[in-house]
Amino acid sequence: MWQNIVAAPADSIFGLNDAFRADINPQKVNLGVGVYKDEAGKTPILACVKAAEKILLEGESTKSYLPISGDPVYATEVQKLLFGDTSEVITSGRAATAHAPGGTGALRVGGDLLKKFYPAAKVWISNPTWSNHKGVFTTAGFPLAEYAYYNASTRALDFQAMVADLMNIPAGDIVLLHACCHNPSGVDLTADEWRKVAAIGVEKGWIPFLDFAYQGFGEGLESDRAGIAAFAATGVDFFIASSYSKNFGLYNERTGALTIVSPTAADAAVAMSHLKITIRVIYSNPPAHGGLVVAAILSTPHLREQWLQELAAMRNRIKAMRVALVEGLTARGVKGDFSSITSQRGMFSFSGLSDEVVQWLRANKSIYVVAGGRINLAGLTEANIGYVCDAIAEATER
Ligand code: LMR
Repeated sequence: MWQNIVAAPADSIFGLNDAFRADINPQKVNLGVGVYKDEAGKTPILACVKAAEKILLEGESTKSYLPISGDPVYATEVQKLLFGDTSEVITSGRAATAHAPGGTGALRVGGDLLKKFYPAAKVWISNPTWSNHKGVFTTAGFPLAEYAYYNASTRALDFQAMVADLMNIPAGDIVLLHACCHNPSGVDLTADEWRKVAAIGVEKGWIPFLDFAYQGFGEGLESDRAGIAAFAATGVDFFIASSYSKNFGLYNERTGALTIVSPTAADAAVAMSHLKITIRVIYSNPPAHGGLVVAAILSTPHLREQWLQELAAMRNRIKAMRVALVEGLTARGVKGDFSSITSQRGMFSFSGLSDEVVQWLRANKSIYVVAGGRINLAGLTEANIGYVCDAIAEATER
């Protein structure tokens, strides 16, 4: 079967992980895949997760199927995280939420559902965007187009160019937006800019699809949902793919959700019916564990409090590494303005390193960075940052 078929290329992010694992250099550093690491370089299980798992294990009485849309308590807690506990979206019942296997699963379910009703639509992605966005939506059958986002020379958001592009997107096309902690640039919109973008969406009639994988990694739960709040306030239809891989550290439990917000509760019920039949033919119904863990933490006050503290600790460690990286590069006289690294948010930074430097770092220093120069700041620790800064200084002097 495979003799005349050319092998597919490795995934640009997970392929790097495989290469890192195979690297025998004891000094190797993984700044590739977006996974949090603590000061010891480990990806820990959060203490609140361990505590919730203990409770669940003791109380578990069945492994029977969940509903197609997943555990109802999970859906309720997800909506509170997305919109705030007392949000009008929740009280008026105009959102439909289903547990999806991770943020990627949520994007794909949303893509398949949208394809059914908007077969001629294009999906607009930010320039640049997470590599898998392209794969997910082309595989769902959509042609892609890009809207302006990041300006490489100012290392900041080009809001004017973004607005100009969004104004030209026709009704019925789908616009994929990073709700916070833009991946890969780390450059976000302000709350005011979000309101402008939401108003353009309403005026033009395109369908907003917000990818929300890093809530709590920017400034905090509340301010990170400014984009969601801006669209919720307009009352129009929009989609949210959320992920609990990063903020609960539940990477391998595939814990995400697709939420469809509609103008009315009656619309949301129709949306849910289509959400269910879309899911049924892909994976039938979701795995239980991750959703039950998230639901248990969020609905148990002391576990929720513990989670908020652990989330803040992850966020603050990454921020400290941003400062340390800029200081380390400046101290070594590395050419360039790195000040934007400290104003970017979330796990990632666009380092400005060329692909040639990225390849040199991997080949000569076993430092793994995603093509395009995206650095996962959480891969830096007090122990390896000197090595990384020395290597970047050497690479950029050559
Ligand atoms: C990343 O961007 O590195 C993460 O979101 C992991 C992934 O699925 O690519």
